[in-house]
Amino acid sequence: MAETNNNAIKSVLLTEKQLDEIVTRLAGEIEAHYSAPGKNLLMICVLKGSLIFTADLMRKINLPMKVDFMQASSYGSGTVSCGNVKIRLDLKEKDLSQYDILVVEDILDSGNTLSFLLNYLKERAVRSVKLCVLLNKPERRKIPIEVDFEGAKIADEFVVGYGLDYNEQYRNLPYVGILKPEVYGG
Ligand code: XMP
Ligand code: MG
Repeated sequence: MAETNNNAIKSVLLTEKQLDEIVTRLAGEIEAHYSAPGKNLLMICVLKGSLIFTADLMRKINLPMKVDFMQASSYGSGTVSCGNVKIRLDLKEKDLSQYDILVVEDILDSGNTLSFLLNYLKERAVRSVKLCVLLNKPERRKIPIEVDFEGAKIADEFVVGYGLDYNEQYRNLPYVGILKPEVYGG
């Protein structure tokens, strides 16, 4: 098992090297899909958790593309999704009609956040909407969501690092680690 020097972390789930391999594979799949003639890629980074993932992923995609940002919230400060999703930050790009949209999300858990965001985007005139998630926790799903590009399936444990937070902390860890349950009173 990979070592961690952070005493809030029970164990490392994905090392920097494993994350790099996952992101390289995803970038290849995305590039293959969006290099088809007529595609016009707009990546949407779902803040804040996807910030590092998006930054690494987009640098490995060798295609013309734009990036924009959205922020939704369903969590508050705890570790359980409440199903009440709000848009905190909307896209800067208002006319989406010319774009093939790829939503880039850090983690798919109950599906509340993404089902809301995907419906919201599909209601606007877009050419296509696809989803890329770094981590997928299928055991926790409440709303079915189709994932087009998936990094890794993980078990039902609260993870932090590589952009993912608990109470806004730990986003800067270069790996994905399992948080000790005592840190969040679990
Ligand atoms: P839902 O339940 O709406 O949740 O699919 C998606 C959002 O919940 C957050 N989330 C996590 N954040 N470690 C985190 O740091 C986790 O294990 C975790 N599980 C869910 C995350 O913000 C995601 O966008
Ligand atoms: Mg998130």
